[in-house]
Amino acid sequence: MMLGSGCLVAPKSGSAAAPAVLRTPKHPVVVASANGHPACVQTALEKILAGTPAIDAVVAGVTLVEDDPNDHSVGLGGLPNEDGEVELDASVMDGKSGLAGAVCSLRRIKNPSQVALAVMRYTDHVLLSGEGARAFARAHGFVEQELLTPEAREIWLYWKSTMSDKDDWLPKTGKDVPANVKAFFGITGTINCCAVDRDGNLAGVTTTSGLAFKIPGRVGDSPLIGAGLFVDNGVGAAGSTGRGEANIVTAGSHTVVEFMRAGKHPKDACLAACKRIVESTRAPHLLRADGKPDFNVNYYAVDRQGRYGGAALFDGGSFAVCDVKGPRTEKLEGLFDR
Ligand code: GLY
Repeated sequence: MMLGSGCLVAPKSGSAAAPAVLRTPKHPVVVASANGHPACVQTALEKILAGTPAIDAVVAGVTLVEDDPNDHSVGLGGLPNEDGEVELDASVMDGKSGLAGAVCSLRRIKNPSQVALAVMRYTDHVLLSGEGARAFARAHGFVEQELLTPEAREIWLYWKSTMSDKDDWLPKTGKDVPANVKAFFGITGTINCCAVDRDGNLAGVTTTSGLAFKIPGRVGDSPLIGAGLFVDNGVGAAGSTGRGEANIVTAGSHTVVEFMRAGKHPKDACLAACKRIVESTRAPHLLRADGKPDFNVNYYAVDRQGRYGGAALFDGGSFAVCDVKGPRTEKLEGLFDR
């Protein structure tokens, strides 16, 4: 049976209820984390309108952010691990083909989202890691470069030199210290971008430098299909930013898509996944004195009909959207005030 551009094959038993006829969107929609505003979402939408497949469009969008040395959460200029080495994670998932690709702990290549896309297109695997991912990228013509920008280096040096007063590292002071340097400590910035095209085909990408000053080799949720990204062409696409560990243990993006499958609006599906995180967070070191998680996670989702939304554990955030009305930011629904 053909529905839209997807092909649903009836199970052998024939016992499954006939699927509802799925409506396709009137126009394409792109959603992203707030750092996708405006360039990422606008570029992705323009490409979809020009006929580029949604998967290539979202990767083109996040590439702009990976290339931006002033965004310290991803790609060039991303904050490094505790040894000062930038290690990148990314995944892509294409609803139309049902394929995914990902890389983790990738060093010296500034566009892990493009490498993840190459893994999807040119291998029979889903996830390549570390040295293997880098060799694969080199084989496909990606160029190695230093990813630690001067400002990211200063932020890392400040973190390293203020970790302990029992070592010999002395912190710089005054004008040598980047503004708001402590705001970068322990951040898990990332960019996620998901889209639906006019035919209801969905795609998504998540790319990150991961937790700032992580233990070398730490892998977050972004390259893990089902955690930092999940796409089902019959339902919707979802992705995440924030504390990856919480998202991994709840398979968060998959959870959002499953809530959409059960009929929830994308925003409510994101909120339900946030509740799941709260229910599963019991370790004392992850809880504040008031019993709420001491971290944040954000979800972004779009469904096959073109409905979209986002939610977070805590209020105050926003996400990027672009459709025929143009690029804008909208409020992430918070589960808690703060
Ligand atoms: N969500 C990004 C990370 O935890 O690495």
